[in-house]
Amino acid sequence: MSRKLFVTTALPYANGPFHIGHIMEYIQADTWVRFQRLQGHEVHFVCADDAHGAPIMIAAEKAGLTPQAFVADIAAGRKPTLEGFHIAFDNWHSTDGPENHELARSIYLALRKNELIESRTVEQFYDPEKGMFLPDRFIKGECPNCGAPDQYGDNCESCGAVYTPTDLKNPRSALTGATPVLRSSEHFFFRLSDPRCVEFLEEWTQDGRLQPEVANKVREWFKRDEQGKVSLGDWDISRDAPYFGIEIPDAPGKYFYVWLDAPVGYLASLKNWFGKIGIDYDAYLADPSLEQIHFIGKDIVTFHTLFWPAMLKFSGRKVPDRIYVHGHLTVSGAKMSKSCGTGISPLRYLELGLDAEWLRYYICAKLNGRVEDLDFNPDDFVARVNADLVGKYINIASRAAGFLSRRFGGRLSADVGVEGRVLLDGLRAQADTIKGLYEEREFGKALREVMLLTDRVNEFVDRIKPWELAKQAGMDAALHDACTVCIEAFRVLTIYLKPVLPALAARVEAFLQVPALVWADSARAMGHHGIGEYRHLMQRVDPKRLEALFEPPADAPPAQEEETPPGGEALAAEIGIADFAKVDLRIARIVAAERVEGSSKLLCLTLDAGEGRLRQVFGGIASAYAPEQLAGKLTVLVANLAPRQMKFGVSEGMVLAASHADKKAHPGLYVLEPWPGAVPGLRVR
Ligand code: MSP
Ligand code: ZN
Repeated sequence: MSRKLFVTTALPYANGPFHIGHIMEYIQADTWVRFQRLQGHEVHFVCADDAHGAPIMIAAEKAGLTPQAFVADIAAGRKPTLEGFHIAFDNWHSTDGPENHELARSIYLALRKNELIESRTVEQFYDPEKGMFLPDRFIKGECPNCGAPDQYGDNCESCGAVYTPTDLKNPRSALTGATPVLRSSEHFFFRLSDPRCVEFLEEWTQDGRLQPEVANKVREWFKRDEQGKVSLGDWDISRDAPYFGIEIPDAPGKYFYVWLDAPVGYLASLKNWFGKIGIDYDAYLADPSLEQIHFIGKDIVTFHTLFWPAMLKFSGRKVPDRIYVHGHLTVSGAKMSKSCGTGISPLRYLELGLDAEWLRYYICAKLNGRVEDLDFNPDDFVARVNADLVGKYINIASRAAGFLSRRFGGRLSADVGVEGRVLLDGLRAQADTIKGLYEEREFGKALREVMLLTDRVNEFVDRIKPWELAKQAGMDAALHDACTVCIEAFRVLTIYLKPVLPALAARVEAFLQVPALVWADSARAMGHHGIGEYRHLMQRVDPKRLEALFEPPADAPPAQEEETPPGGEALAAEIGIADFAKVDLRIARIVAAERVEGSSKLLCLTLDAGEGRLRQVFGGIASAYAPEQLAGKLTVLVANLAPRQMKFGVSEGMVLAASHADKKAHPGLYVLEPWPGAVPGLRVR
């Protein structure tokens, strides 16, 4: 029976290009979708940019663009990466599209009609300079638990404490440095605490549709009181203007919190797609046999297992059938940050001419159906691609193709003899096992099975030794059979690998001169069929080229030879980040500044670098500053410079100042001062 599948991946924030973690998610989902299509199932596979929210609004402002123009720029850059990695989304839309505005509002109105929306007054930090309420991430201060400076408003990166922004000591706005003030505002809440929601979600999350480890995690979020009554917290779904988002009906100046309209974007993208291809959206979603499946990472499980199904259910819509959660990709063991990713840029990977399907193969070889992180390790990458993919699989075709075209006019033999038939039957018999593994997203296991089959074929070749048969008189038929077995085996293996390696499979189809292969073709033999000329199907990875991926991009054009170098001097010799890290720069407060008896150049500074003691530093800045200009100011101290005995005393470091190389012609001297908000002791990096 043919299945109807509606599949999505998470919608990436439209605040930057794809990072390698996004590509990993797309490779997983795309492989699964391709597998389903090879089974003959009907799949609609869509994604979109997650365009809304305060961070994007602020990033746009910094870039001097409207949020709409900012996200449009990001969207315009998506295509080369998606195509490059053969990610076959049917549609790419935006949560700022008209379909999403309309759907989000109608879902909200249905929830309101169902008495699941409530308004409440909440007190929140407001930046009086910027004139806006501050999201938690844009408030910084000292941790209420451990006192660590410069912590975000929601949790402490130093001790891990979780709190609300109002708990922070000395809070300030990360946007302006202003001290935020408390202001009250009306917010809308989705009443997840309503017994209808709790009952529905308890059932929906625990009925076996989620991975067991996900279901267990979700269970912890249901609070149980002494009577055993289960509860959930309400969810704040509104934000005040200015906000880049969707305006809430009947509430001027109020917008949906980005996470309310983001998952609605799944439906909006589908609707937009159906508009293009002329499918009736409502009828499609009304089909009870339709399966709705979302691929997501482990960090966004709450939104997809509580809020999203409840929104759908209580607005009278179809709820998701599956949420497939994956772990995160690390690179050589290092976690990547959400905002800047890692050293590996997917686009750079492609630009370096590295084969997209090496990465697809490598990622899939490490993926399973559980929520486990997986590590990109360059040595491991080279080994798996070269030894397995090329060494075992591609090798099968290259061992046989030459003989076939030179000796047999490129024709396969009609029959292959007992040994060959047994081998091929054995390969075909694995179709169901491998199919089951793909279905379960156990791609690593599926590929291991395939590699075991390649071993069988290579053992067969080593035993039969076609290269020796070729030299013996009267062994033509045996040689022909052996090569036919190889090519037939290669075709079956190609079908098993096709979900992972679609472009390679297309090259194989051209070489074999067969129409696009589907899963069921593995059961049939090609028979007395003519194949094409063998051309190299896939190269090995050159480890040196992979290394280039980890080097900083050389995209900055070489500096032009100028008549006069900037600031009057050529740049110093290049250093690595490790060299720079040796210099420990700290924010310090100039507690006192005094003239030095007997020196016209020096000032003696007393500095507080947050160490619980004061330092004495002599600086050659007397020509530019009067002592009273400096006292009380913050500056930057080279804090790990060896103390130096000077004529007037010991200097325990150095303060930073900018000046021209030619001090006579350009006498200006400028001491560095950090932006507002910095405090003594913070490291400058
Ligand atoms: N915009 C939200 C999702 C809204 S879905 C209605 C978001 N965006 S994101 O760009 O931060 O992440 C998009 C997806 O990439 C998420 O599924 C996330 O888990 C995944 N990944 C982010 N970093 C990742 C890795 N390091 N490894 C694998 N997946 C990663 O969250
Ligand atoms: Zn702390």
